[in-house]
Amino acid sequence: MTDHIADPARGVEVLAMDRRHVFHSWSAQKKIRPLAVARAEGSWFWDFDGKRYLDFSSQMVNTNIGHQHPRVTAAIAEQAVKLSTVAPEHANEVRGEAAGRIAELAPEDMHKVFFANSGSEANENAIRMARIHTGRSKVLSFYRSFHGNTAVSAASTGDNRRWSNEYATGHVHFFGPYLFRSAFWANSEGEECARALHHLEQVIQMENPSSIAAVLMESIVGTAGVLVPPPGYLAGVRKLCDKYGIIYIADEVMCGFGRAGSWFAFEQHGVVPDLITFAKGANSGYVPISGVIISDKIAATFDDQVFPGGMTYSGHPLACASVVATIDAMKDERILENAVSVGNEVFGPGLRELARRHPVIGEVRGQAVFWGMDLVSNPETREPLVPFGASSEPMARYKTECLARGLMPSFRNSWIRVVPPCTISEAEAKEGLEILDDVLAVMDKYCGA
Ligand SMILES: Cc1ncc(COP(=O)(O)O)c(C=O)c1O
Repeated sequence: MTDHIADPARGVEVLAMDRRHVFHSWSAQKKIRPLAVARAEGSWFWDFDGKRYLDFSSQMVNTNIGHQHPRVTAAIAEQAVKLSTVAPEHANEVRGEAAGRIAELAPEDMHKVFFANSGSEANENAIRMARIHTGRSKVLSFYRSFHGNTAVSAASTGDNRRWSNEYATGHVHFFGPYLFRSAFWANSEGEECARALHHLEQVIQMENPSSIAAVLMESIVGTAGVLVPPPGYLAGVRKLCDKYGIIYIADEVMCGFGRAGSWFAFEQHGVVPDLITFAKGANSGYVPISGVIISDKIAATFDDQVFPGGMTYSGHPLACASVVATIDAMKDERILENAVSVGNEVFGPGLRELARRHPVIGEVRGQAVFWGMDLVSNPETREPLVPFGASSEPMARYKTECLARGLMPSFRNSWIRVVPPCTISEAEAKEGLEILDDVLAVMDKYCGA
């Protein structure tokens, strides 16, 4: 790892420019004080004071390959010299290669990729495809979900980021499996799975099955708590979709490309969706890109009929070059295998041990480098540590305590996520867990145990 030269004066200027001119997302502008980041490498980044942070957030859960992977940055630089932009209507070397690499990772009957620039746009366009293909309008998705920030993807989102953005119509929400806070009074994973499927079928029937275009589902719910579905749940949803002629869209924006230890998280549940949306880990966000992987039967709908959608930068060559380099490097360097082994050897046992020692942890869930914990204010009643959808002093304290110790956390509501790059070493993972142990001792004070 190369040394970082501190430049505190520049840090002050960077922050001042930001506060003067940059309008930040999801924020009240006067209430924020962003961390000024100077550089990054692997699992780490530095501020301008030279302080180093272990990135347990992967930024927005996107730097699956780590920061500044040399093969990916080199591919972007080479492509910039060769052909730095080209309209989506033209064919070019690197877009075809990127689409081919992605299709090779997908199930057999999926050969085409529609490129977009964000996870939101990917979901927006997947829903558009499903609506046109079926001639139906409604979309069903979990209450506990995040699908994006554009009109349709925001309306299909379940969590509180939907509340102020609900302009699109035809969106219905339902409860997915979440045994720790079961909506179905279930006592086992099997019961939770069966009852959640029964609930979904009732929702389908009550909403008029012939009006439902798609079920849109994160294969592992990410921002809303890292909820790994029980065995059989995704297969049960696939069956219901087939029974009622509904398109199954798997949102793999967060859980795909190694985060859960496989290229796609649904693979581990033996199901094949009709449409798959991806973004984040596909190139670790080095240049914005996302897309929809399309089954042959849906692609055929648009053989003679126009697909009414597209963006200026769809399949941008710099982004596509970074996708090709990312996938090749992830295979050559066995990065998925690393994510699985660090999950099995360090995070799984380490986080469960933390849960045994810290009453504030209600439950630990996850796999590979995709972990979530429910924080509670009362272990008996499982009362969430902070109210749903509100900013809170305890979680602000959590962030401050982590940053003070050189750990970049990831959290929302009462959920803590542990989502480092898939490339993290066992030693780095252990170092991060030790910091978490200290911070959770502080958080235990908020728990009435
Ligand atoms: C599951 C899921 N879908 C969609 C999105 C939206 O992606 P983007 O922020 O790139 O628009 C996110 C973002 O976190 C996500 O986690």
